[in-house]
Amino acid sequence: MSGRLEGKVAVVIGAAGGIGQSVAESFAREGAKVVIGDSKEAEGRAVAQAIGGDFLATDVGRHDDVQALVDFTIARHGRLDIAVQNAGIYPWQLIEDTSPGDWDRVLGVNLGGCFNLARAALAPMKAQGGGRILFTSSITGPRVVGPGHGHYAASKAGINGLIRAAALEFSAYGITVNGVEPGNILTDAIRLHRGAAYIADMEASIPLGRLGSTRDVANAFVFLASDDASYITGTTIIVDGGQILPEGNDFRIEVKSL
Ligand SMILES: NC(=O)c1ccc[n+]([C@@H]2O[C@H](COP(=O)([O-])OP(=O)(O)OC[C@H]3O[C@@H](n4cnc5c(N)ncnc54)[C@H](O)[C@@H]3O)[C@@H](O)[C@H]2O)c1
Repeated sequence: MSGRLEGKVAVVIGAAGGIGQSVAESFAREGAKVVIGDSKEAEGRAVAQAIGGDFLATDVGRHDDVQALVDFTIARHGRLDIAVQNAGIYPWQLIEDTSPGDWDRVLGVNLGGCFNLARAALAPMKAQGGGRILFTSSITGPRVVGPGHGHYAASKAGINGLIRAAALEFSAYGITVNGVEPGNILTDAIRLHRGAAYIADMEASIPLGRLGSTRDVANAFVFLASDDASYITGTTIIVDGGQILPEGNDFRIEVKSL
């Protein structure tokens, strides 16, 4: 299918690589004009250039940067239909080793970034009479957790709360607010920094038997951004191959032939 976002203007923050890059590419493929904001300048510019979009260096944790990105988009395209905050940081740190500064940084980027974009996108979307605000949450925090992710889990669970609060308040303006909760997604960073043993171990814990692709996640974003999702607000789509379903490790059944 193509053309589902024809004529739409989208901002995607955190699209210099990984999931966000796939979201930006999929939006462009579906006909949207895409403006990328990311703190990685060279990589962000390269992705924007490849999809015929624009780029502005943006630290999503800084409200002024996010406001500047939205202002740039309006100046360039005259409207803003879809606003995605996907940027996230995920340092592995036990709570006992997490300084107040570490805590503020993770919460400030992951959750604060979502507040910053929702706040900045509100005025133009209100003036247009509608829009789509979309955040990348995670199964980590809202559904499951492992050690070393206290700040990260809190930030992602917080995103789900913000989604519901903003969806309720912004419904008066025809703006929907939703999110995607990815499970374990095979990005270049995971391919590079984790060994084959880690990946095989993760695959064994996922009922569908594989890690997700960035495209799997992007497909959910395209749906939520499209007209097909016009009556959906205040919720998330879990894209995890069934990872949160098992009660324990022993969930494989013998496959019976028909
Ligand atoms: N990969 C996974 O398995 C997975 C699972 C669940 C949730 N997520 C979430 O998906 C999102 C993307 O993850 P990814 O795996 O593609 O990561 P990634 O590190 O490949 O991409 C994150 C992007 O965000 C950008 N970024 C980081 N800090 C920023 C800041 N302060 N301002 C602007 N941009 C900033 C990075 O430069 C990068 O382009 C994150 O929010 C992450 O928490 C990922």
